[in-house]
Amino acid sequence: MRVGVLASGDGSNLQAILDRLHGREGVEVVAVGSDKPEARALERARATGVDARAFPVQGGDRRARDLAIADWLAGAGVELVVLAGYMQLLDPGFLARFPQRVINVHPALLPAFPGIGSVEQAVAYGVKVFGVTVHFVDEGVDTGPIIAQRAIELPGEPAAEDVRAALRPVEHDLLTGVVALIARGAVAVDPADPRHVAVRA
Ligand code: GRF
Repeated sequence: MRVGVLASGDGSNLQAILDRLHGREGVEVVAVGSDKPEARALERARATGVDARAFPVQGGDRRARDLAIADWLAGAGVELVVLAGYMQLLDPGFLARFPQRVINVHPALLPAFPGIGSVEQAVAYGVKVFGVTVHFVDEGVDTGPIIAQRAIELPGEPAAEDVRAALRPVEHDLLTGVVALIARGAVAVDPADPRHVAVRA
């Protein structure tokens, strides 16, 4: 399965995919894109010899940018798009090019705390259980069908920074696990009820 990854920042989730899956389990990372030319994720991709490219918005036209990314990924034969810390909403025209083939990792137990700043929101709310969600991407903000979730209890009153550090390895495990399952054909959206995702272990 040819995988394209979009990332805006450090790219530790991308690195987990490169280290654990790239060239194995039928997974080939063939393209890494970013909205930010300075994203470390692009360096990580290049260091592994993966084609990497930045797509900054030109003249405020986000739709044109997203369609250019879609063309680039489709041209590379991408079959699954992984959003790994990609901090932009994708245009519906992009999603239409990869129906049920775009996934995202989110550092909260959806539907709680969607959008940006989810860890800070969870800390401010005083939750005792934190977690990670991997879900299909639809046109909403973190509203697509859930593929996998993992929770962790953190005692005391952790700071957002500590929560983020505790969640990071959970993200890496959950996201790489889901990509491997999709590559094996073990993840299916129920056509009769597209909110529900069946995962064969
Ligand atoms: C992760 O916490 C991800 O859940 C969120 O952005 C962060 C990206 O981290 N959407 P990295 O760039 O993969 O290190």
